[in-house]
Amino acid sequence: MSDKVNLTIDGRKLEAPAGSTILQAAKDANIYIPHLCHNDELKPYGACRLCVVEITHRNRTRIVASCIYEVAEGLEVQTVTERVLNVRKLVIELLLSRNKKSQVLQDIAQKLEVEKSRFELDIKGCILCGMCIRTCKEVVGVNAIGYKSRGFTREVATPFDETPPDCIACGSCAYVCPVDFIQYSEKNGVRTIWNTEFPMQKCTKCGRHIAPVKQLDHFKETLNLPEDHFDICLHCR
Ligand code: FES
Repeated sequence: MSDKVNLTIDGRKLEAPAGSTILQAAKDANIYIPHLCHNDELKPYGACRLCVVEITHRNRTRIVASCIYEVAEGLEVQTVTERVLNVRKLVIELLLSRNKKSQVLQDIAQKLEVEKSRFELDIKGCILCGMCIRTCKEVVGVNAIGYKSRGFTREVATPFDETPPDCIACGSCAYVCPVDFIQYSEKNGVRTIWNTEFPMQKCTKCGRHIAPVKQLDHFKETLNLPEDHFDICLHCR
């Protein structure tokens, strides 16, 4: 059996590896599909629904999320149809209702010719894309944060809303957040994230703060590095 399949995207005939997603096939062919909760380093998740496309397969046409839908032999994909645009417009309105201030969301809304959201939700700004939770677990290898509650009150939180015991204060969750909702700060040798203060390690030569002690300990342990590996900062090496 061939490990490639033939499909068309917007009328272009393409070959894509079996098991890959429509979004991946489109990216490889330089066809743009908007997306927010997809990252090549993370497992497909399908939370934001911005990446919807219209597919026709075996005489059936429907709307699917391209980041989780696998390519198939004979699949026909349309990335811009009236139906697709209507769904994307609704999705961006819903996302904007969760975070009006996000420049990323505003830019996507502008491209979709959506001026403002019809929905008013009293939400703090998280769009529930799950990038932070998945990065923490799948990339950093820690499980410090997760979802709590359901429906409109669903949010990302630390266990029991307390100091997260497994957090190493690496800031990856804040880094990947597409709407800059997760904040952290650094002051006087302390990084504060998830309402918790994490002391930072000082370079033994220049005194510069390198990174949170917990983060460096995590790296030493997982990468089997010598105990003094991070005693000196990169500038002094
Ligand atoms: S990128 Fe596909 S659902 Fe978010």
